[in-house]
Amino acid sequence: MAERNPLVIANWKLNGGIDLLCTSVAAFIGKHFETDIAICPPYIYMRDMLNFLQHSEIIVGSQNISKYASGAYTGETSAKMVKQAGGGLCLIGHSERRQMFGESNASCQIKVNQALEVNLMPILCIGENLQQRDAGVTKDVLFKQLEETLGEIECSGEQLCVAYEPVWAIGTGKAASPDDAQNIHAYIRCQLASIKGEDFAEKVRILYGGSVNKDNAADLLKNKDIDGLLVGGASLDAEHFMQICKVADAN
Ligand code: 13P
Repeated sequence: MAERNPLVIANWKLNGGIDLLCTSVAAFIGKHFETDIAICPPYIYMRDMLNFLQHSEIIVGSQNISKYASGAYTGETSAKMVKQAGGGLCLIGHSERRQMFGESNASCQIKVNQALEVNLMPILCIGENLQQRDAGVTKDVLFKQLEETLGEIECSGEQLCVAYEPVWAIGTGKAASPDDAQNIHAYIRCQLASIKGEDFAEKVRILYGGSVNKDNAADLLKNKDIDGLLVGGASLDAEHFMQICKVADAN
């Protein structure tokens, strides 16, 4: 069976300033973790964080990338720019971008390709909203997101991650239960096997996100198809984020 090293990502969203962000990860400097740990600050802070964290193992990533490689696209930042700045990964299709900034499966597909082209690891975020969950169409929504985004993409399972973030769990304090999350992750892996093949599905890391905190991280990570966590609010608290990473390491 493929070894999937755990990955914990902090998504700092539109939070700052730089002092708070440095405080959140200062304790990681000089420490070794088996778990892969990444932070996604606002673009403007990426370089500062890379400098601040140069004696740490933390990967710095972006929360988005442009679907364009270059040109007259005011306000955009390309995958290549993120890579050149020292970025190692990028979130794509976060539900906040889908809800508020018109991100679609089609634009996610383009962005995943842009990222892969410059060797930046895409973290494709998928998830159902409350209405879809209540209507019992969660699996249909997830399948469509995976199929429409990854169906035509050529890459191996190690080059990309999927983050399952149920929209109703984001910022609400109501995380999916570990059993429910495991069931959905197993479904995602199974569908990825049908879309991309067994080898891809076996190697791809599937992260859970949505109200992760230091108290629920261990129970989530115990499950065989939960390969890591995408953490919002709790990642801004230095002690909480360190605890979550320690739990991932002990898993
Ligand atoms: P919370 O952990 O604050 O629920 O946010 C999750 C998220 O959106 C991470 O991308």
